[in-house]
Amino acid sequence: MNFTPEMLASMAKVEAAREANIALEPRRMTAEEKDALLKAYHPDYRQDGFDIIKVGGNAGQKAPKELLALLEANSRLTQVTANLDKIDYDVDVLVIGGGGAGSSAAIEAHNAGANVMIVTKLRIGDANTMMAEGGIQAADKENDSPAQHYLDVMGGGHYTNRPELVAKLVTEGPGAVKWLNELGVEFDKDENGNMITTHGGGTSRKRMHAAADYSGAEIMRTLRDEVLNLGIPVVDFTAAIELIKDENGRCAGAVLMNMETKQILVARAKAVILATGGAGRMHYQGFPTSNHYGATADGLILAYRAGAKLLYQDTLQYHPTGAAFPNQIYGALVTEKVRSLGAKVINRDGVAFVHPLETRDVEAAAVIRECDDRKLGVEAPNGQAVWLDTPMIDMIHGAGTLEKRLPAMLRMYMKYDIDMRKVPILIYPTLHYQNGGIEIDVNDETCVPGLFVAGEAVGGIHGRNRLMGNSLLDIIVFGRNAGKATARAVKDVHLGKLTLKHVDEYAKALADAGIHSDIVSPKLLPDYARRV
Ligand code: FUM
Repeated sequence: MNFTPEMLASMAKVEAAREANIALEPRRMTAEEKDALLKAYHPDYRQDGFDIIKVGGNAGQKAPKELLALLEANSRLTQVTANLDKIDYDVDVLVIGGGGAGSSAAIEAHNAGANVMIVTKLRIGDANTMMAEGGIQAADKENDSPAQHYLDVMGGGHYTNRPELVAKLVTEGPGAVKWLNELGVEFDKDENGNMITTHGGGTSRKRMHAAADYSGAEIMRTLRDEVLNLGIPVVDFTAAIELIKDENGRCAGAVLMNMETKQILVARAKAVILATGGAGRMHYQGFPTSNHYGATADGLILAYRAGAKLLYQDTLQYHPTGAAFPNQIYGALVTEKVRSLGAKVINRDGVAFVHPLETRDVEAAAVIRECDDRKLGVEAPNGQAVWLDTPMIDMIHGAGTLEKRLPAMLRMYMKYDIDMRKVPILIYPTLHYQNGGIEIDVNDETCVPGLFVAGEAVGGIHGRNRLMGNSLLDIIVFGRNAGKATARAVKDVHLGKLTLKHVDEYAKALADAGIHSDIVSPKLLPDYARRV
């Protein structure tokens, strides 16, 4: 790869300072310092990135401008017609989304005796789960406990998390990892069969279980196999474009659209689980993203129109270490595990300017300050970037460690002739996760009866900042939970007449507020995709 002369000159300084930087323990910031840093540099605090919601259950609150445009857009049913008298699919539980949360939910609903179907706008496994790298947290070691994990999660989320959801997350964490292990996930283990665990930013114990640096792909592989082995029907390339209710206000299915033929289909269900994932492809505030192609906030739009409430929709996670060079991988995830294994974040002059394992929001804000304000980054194709000094890993743990523990990272960079065992890599924050989402109770149910949510579409578990490895955990814990809860709930459900009245009512509320839009939502695919 052709590094610029400026990059090479800076790289020489990083190399010269490497031994000293390994020995140095950068100071942890005080709570006051973190607070001031976040307010000054974290994108969640940029006023011009947000506007006020005018209609619906969250009226008066902030939302990212890009999300608000979708909340204020027209239903796709203004362009096509759904015939609710013709039912194409009739099931107990409809799972919308084919990632880790949707698959876990479907498995448990099926195992509890429900007639379940997955519908997904791409293919099963095309989801952020597949992209997850660093690992999954669970307090299953002797020196750890769910209580310890609880404190870390709450602290990381600035104590804004919903306590009852966090309690569920951490107490069911060890069982979730055991479940995955028994299903066949190949976690990293030592010669005695014990799980190898590492730290993440903000963790007080080493509780990150991983499958090298492709943990999500390994988990998704296993869940997908289980769904297919159980014979759970999966309808691929079919998007939910609106939720259906019954005359009593219960969620009763979804209007579907075949992504290729545009055929409109109706799925009736006694309960619906939204597992539609995140929003990275919305590129909030112009950030690149580490997310899967389908991450366009669809679930938030569908649920909001149906009357569910959002929670913390104004808080996003910018992963501190997105790839900044070369341009072909701009925004791709450089797993936090790189820092867990000892690589430090270094500026243009070879100075380690921040502790490598501050929580993500703090770490990202520190990188933004170093580049955009102090101008102590290196010029990269999309602006300044700082170094992640990856050769430190083998120096600390011995030759061969990086290759063994981070094979996917190594391969990604080797494609561009960058050997991260020998040279540092350039990074800058990338849009990674929606901390907020749809409000649920401990059974995963929203305020709309029969509408359940699991995975990244949920808000409240992580408060205003998620710790590494708690997303893979929440998709399993709350995915399984939703599957079990819906299977229980549908036993007593007798649906009334189907209706889309709520869609018309929401459109009227927009019109009454003087809001008119030229676009339709849910978005389904990013702007640079072929139009749908
Ligand atoms: O850095 C990472 O590997 C990402 C993990 C996560 O978002 O949990």
